[in-house]
Amino acid sequence: MSVWKYATAGCVFALSIMILRKMTRFYKRGVLTCSEEMRNKTVIITGANCGIGKATALELAKRHARVIMACRNKEKANAAISDIRKITEYGELIFKHLDLESFKSVKAFCQDIIEHEQKLHVLINNAAVMNHPYAQTEDNLEIHMSVNHFGNFLLTNLLLDLLKKSSPSRIIFVSSALHKYGRVNFEDFQGQQRKPYADSKLANVYFARELAERLKGTGISVHTLHPGMVNTELSRHSVSPALNFIVNPIKYLLLPSAEEGSQGIVNLAVVDLGTDTGKCYGKKGQEEKWPEISSEKAIWKKMWEVSERLTQLN
Ligand SMILES: NC(=O)c1ccc[n+]([C@@H]2O[C@H](COP(=O)([O-])OP(=O)(O)OC[C@H]3O[C@@H](n4cnc5c(N)ncnc54)[C@H](OP(=O)(O)O)[C@@H]3O)[C@@H](O)[C@H]2O)c1
Repeated sequence: MSVWKYATAGCVFALSIMILRKMTRFYKRGVLTCSEEMRNKTVIITGANCGIGKATALELAKRHARVIMACRNKEKANAAISDIRKITEYGELIFKHLDLESFKSVKAFCQDIIEHEQKLHVLINNAAVMNHPYAQTEDNLEIHMSVNHFGNFLLTNLLLDLLKKSSPSRIIFVSSALHKYGRVNFEDFQGQQRKPYADSKLANVYFARELAERLKGTGISVHTLHPGMVNTELSRHSVSPALNFIVNPIKYLLLPSAEEGSQGIVNLAVVDLGTDTGKCYGKKGQEEKWPEISSEKAIWKKMWEVSERLTQLN
């Protein structure tokens, strides 16, 4: 009997601590301190209709930025814009259609941006999928590889001239600490990958590092950040919707919110980073050492060349 008493008391105590963490700013992950404005700055955020992308759009709008929300679903994007408008009337929020699963869509998006935007100061490559059931895209690529890497590669390269014209400008890759468990199979980007999410995020890190090297001296800096575990919709393919009524409250209590998860990214987008480029940042926006797995420059180059060929960049 007394065991049950202790167990109940323990559960109540743990639950109280979790609720306290949620309710008080004291326990929350680093709160944004940067007060810089983004007036007259244009930012593109991919996947800005929910999660970390939406929270980032809100923070940048509050700072008066012109935010282009590059999303694949117009209804979801408009709903996100309405939500943000309930919080701030500052900044501009513009929906543009982008489906990273399709090179045709990426090209159409970039064409539209190049025709209609005079400047692009910040590109935030945020959109991603995780644990998606195996599927091939219309370009015959495995879906994680396509959305999380090849789509990013094509998009970023097609916007480089505009970013150069707008320099100083920056590109931010929202990565994942899980990339260090990845392994890129250069022989096969079509079939089921070993660990699709980690493998595709590693491919993207190789790209980010090679890009930073190639852009040195151009006025475009490249930054990579992993936000840590955050309560978003990223796990939508990992958990059966029937279990959401149990999983969602647990996620809410245990994980930082999307707003907290966005803070490091917002920081990278707004603060003066001097000549820094090619660096890796952690969940609180602190600079970190790159994991050993991405240290070999020859692999960055190989990833670039394969991506160039598969996206038919040239
Ligand atoms: N949450 C975490 O714990 C965590 C941890 C480490 C890294 N990250 C990284 O953080 C970033 C943001 O993820 P999140 O956690 O905010 O997840 P999320 O809530 O699921 O948001 C992902 C966004 O990507 C979009 N997206 C997916 N496929 C797309 C496609 N084909 N074309 C265009 N957009 C597409 C989604 O649009 P739809 O709503 O239309 O699907 C959504 O807007 C990702 O790069 C992720 O890898 C997250």
